[in-house]
Amino acid sequence: MTSRRLSTVLAAIAAVTMLPPPGATACLGCHPAKPSVTTPVVPLFGQSAENIVAKLRAFRNGEQPYTVMDRIAKGIGEDEAQAIAGYFARGETK
Ligand code: HEC
Repeated sequence: MTSRRLSTVLAAIAAVTMLPPPGATACLGCHPAKPSVTTPVVPLFGQSAENIVAKLRAFRNGEQPYTVMDRIAKGIGEDEAQAIAGYFARGETK
């Protein structure tokens, strides 16, 4: 692979990884889309990935009180939860 081709590939990977993982944008209909915004729904930005993943697991098990999150959490697999949680923990808003 030529170095020019390699840099094109690397640029493409960088562009792709800056996008929210699949599913994360769906959370932003209810959870605030920016760390600076305050809404009645708990912000996910700024929480640790471990905490978000643990909460999603607890919603799935019915251990965490819920109104809607049980259904949402059941639609998210463990891998997807990790990716989404990492995105919010990193605080990217793009
Ligand atoms: C329909 C609105 C809605 C959507 C969409 C939504 N949430 Fe929630 N979320 C809530 C509400 C409301 C709560 C408070 C618990 C409850 O009432 O179910 C909550 C709570 C949470 C909590 C617990 C936060 C805490 O610190 O207690 C986490 C984690 C969470 N949501 C993650 C997500 C993720 C990840 C997504 C996207 C896959 C998502 N939510 C999509 C409404 C939503």
